[in-house]
Amino acid sequence: MSDLILAEAILAHVKAGGRVMDVLNNLAPIYAEGERYDLACCGPFAMPWRHDAMFRIIYEEAERIERGAWRGFGVESRAYVLLRMAELALQAVEGDFVECGVFRGGSALLAATALQNVGGGVRFHLFDTFAGVPEAGLTEAERAARIGGSFDDVSLDETRANLAAFADFLDFHPGFVPDTFAGAGVGKVRYAHIDINTGQATRACLEYLVPRLVDGGVVVLDDYGWPAYVDCKQVTDDYFAEMDLPGVMALHTGQAIYVHRADARRILNF
Ligand SMILES: C[S@@+](CC[C@H](N)C(=O)[O-])C[C@H]1O[C@@H](n2cnc3c(N)ncnc32)[C@H](O)[C@@H]1O
Repeated sequence: MSDLILAEAILAHVKAGGRVMDVLNNLAPIYAEGERYDLACCGPFAMPWRHDAMFRIIYEEAERIERGAWRGFGVESRAYVLLRMAELALQAVEGDFVECGVFRGGSALLAATALQNVGGGVRFHLFDTFAGVPEAGLTEAERAARIGGSFDDVSLDETRANLAAFADFLDFHPGFVPDTFAGAGVGKVRYAHIDINTGQATRACLEYLVPRLVDGGVVVLDDYGWPAYVDCKQVTDDYFAEMDLPGVMALHTGQAIYVHRADARRILNF
């Protein structure tokens, strides 16, 4: 639907005494690969990602190093989720931080900021080609969507420089995921951010990271709810079902989160 048609529909509805949100919440859904994606908007509620002064300082630094790449839909609320989930992960008694899909380091900066005052030898492992999404392992749909080659305007040197303030506890693992997992020295994990955009790599990340999660460890999946990355949702749902673990929780930001209980068993099955 074009913005003009949408505006006309909203105007007609409001003139008839309706509310703007009713129109937005009832727009026709999109279907991709059998998944339903609604375009619903959320009503007025507290949005600390816009007003929390400390968050704004951290976010603006992350946005700066992303050089314009963060101007897309809903990045502030996604960044807020990441920062808060990193803080939650710090309540776990042990485990490292891991991010798969780093690009220029914006999302890593958020989690590293939460981690920086904690000490205790916690490492933050960063996995990426630092040269864009590789063509290898893409599905036909991902090739058609031209996901391969995206995010290539970056280098390892640039991301290292962007995150220089945290160098003491960062471990860079440049190269193809999952190949770089071998010998990376990742032990137990308390925080994992998976933002790698493709199904096969997302599955490999889950297989590598979930068995390493400590009690109270968290996983944030950035690509879960987006029609463009439907394979990421599929492999995630498949993985948690196969492992007989409770599924992830989809958020209205497009992310999904999983909080690990060491004694987790599937108890809900919607
Ligand atoms: C959406 S970007 C990550 C954005 C980042 N989290 C941020 O804060 O801006 C996705 C990243 O995944 C990386 N990537 C995708 N597939 C990969 C693979 N198989 N191995 C290594 N890196 C991969 C790309 O190089 C790209 O930097």
